Amino acid sequence: MSASPLFRPFDHPKLKLRNRIVMAPMTRKRSPGGVPGADVAAYYRRRGEGGVGLILSEGAGIRRNGSRSDPAVPNLFGDDALAGWQAVVDGVKATGAKFAPQLWHVGARPDEATKALPEAPIDSPSGLPWPGKTVAEPMSDEAIADTIAAYAEAAANAAKLGCDAVEIHGAHGYLIDQFLWDGTNLRSDGWNGPTLKERARFAAEVVRAMRQAAGPDFPILIRISQDKSPDGSVRLANDPGELALLVEVLAEAGVDIFHCSGARFSRREFAGSDLSFAGWVKKISGLPTIAVGTVGLDVPPATPLFATIAPGPIDEVERRLDAGEFDLVAVGRALLADPDWAEKVRAGRTDELIGFEARYVAELH
Ligand SMILES: Cc1cc2nc3c(=O)[nH]c(=O)nc-3n(C[C@H](O)[C@H](O)[C@H](O)COP(=O)(O)O)c2cc1C
Repeated sequence: MSASPLFRPFDHPKLKLRNRIVMAPMTRKRSPGGVPGADVAAYYRRRGEGGVGLILSEGAGIRRNGSRSDPAVPNLFGDDALAGWQAVVDGVKATGAKFAPQLWHVGARPDEATKALPEAPIDSPSGLPWPGKTVAEPMSDEAIADTIAAYAEAAANAAKLGCDAVEIHGAHGYLIDQFLWDGTNLRSDGWNGPTLKERARFAAEVVRAMRQAAGPDFPILIRISQDKSPDGSVRLANDPGELALLVEVLAEAGVDIFHCSGARFSRREFAGSDLSFAGWVKKISGLPTIAVGTVGLDVPPATPLFATIAPGPIDEVERRLDAGEFDLVAVGRALLADPDWAEKVRAGRTDELIGFEARYVAELH
C-alpha cells in the first residue's frame, strides 16, 4: 500500500473509488460520425489498467445539432454511438476503474483547432461566443427546453450503459458557461439576471432534468471554471460571496461533486487566503471537489497547454489532498502521455514517468 493520500479509497455514498486519481476529460476527435470505436475503447481501458480511480470521458455531444463543433467528437445518444460507448464502459470497468462520460455542448463557441462554428441551429443565450461578437440568434424558449431535455436523455443513456456517474461540462466558455457569464448572456428574460444566482438557472435546470432522468442515486458531477479560455483575463466570480451564489444554486439542484477546473490546481483563488478554487468550492458547498491543473507536470509560468513538459513532483497536491482542501485530483496531460501514470506513482517508479509532448494529442495510444 502506498502511503500517499492519492491512493486512499474515496468512499462517497453514491460513488466508491479505489483511489483519488481522476482522468481529466480530454477531447480526442477520434470518433468519426460521433461513434467511438475499438481504438477509443482500448485507449480508455489502458488508463484503467494503469490504475486510475475514475475515468472522465472526453466531452460528448447531446441530441442538439450544434452541441459539437467537430463531427469526430463522440455523441452520447443514438444506437451506434451508444454501442461504441458500451464497449468503452465495459472495458474500463473490467479494470476496476469507474467511468463517467462528460456531456458537452459548445454553445456559440467555434472549434478551438479548426475555428469552425457548430452546425446550425447554434444554441446559446444571446448568440455570442465572446462579448461583441454575434454569430447566431439567441435561443428560443423552445430550443432551451429541448436542450435541457437532450441533457436529460444523455444522462439516462449514461445510466443505462452502466456508467458510474455523469459529468456536465459547465466550464471553459461553452454553452452552460455562456449562460453563467454576463459577457455572453444578454437576455432580458428569466434566464438572466443581475447576479450569478439568476444566470445559474439554466445549469440548475439541466441538473434537475438529469436527476429526474437518471434517478436519485446516480452521481452528477459538474465542471465549472473561473476562466473562459483562451483568454484567462476574465473571472466568473470576483469574490467568495459571488462564488457562493453559483455553487449554492447548483448544489440545491442536485449536484453531488464539483469539478473545479483551472490552469493550476494550487492557484490562490481570492486574496487573503491560500485556498485554491477547489478548496473554496468545497468550503462553500460542503460537497466533495476535484482539483485539476498541472498535476504531475513541471510547468513553468505561461507555458502553453500543448508544450513539451517534463514530469514534476506531486508533493504539493498530496499535501493539499491530505489536508482535506479537496477530495479528488484530476490528471490530464500527464495521463495522455503516460497511461501508467497512476501505477508508476503508486509503486514509487517516478523515474519511469513520461513527460508530455504535443504529439500525444494527435495520438490515441
Ligand atoms: C487535448 C486536451 C483536450 C481537452 N479536452 C477537454 C474536454 O473535452 N473537456 C474539458 O472539460 N476539458 C478538456 N481539457 C482540459 C483538461 O481536462 C484539463 O483541465 C487540462 O488539461 C489541465 O489539466 P492538466 O494540466 O493535468 O493537463 C482538455 C485538455 C487537453 C490537453
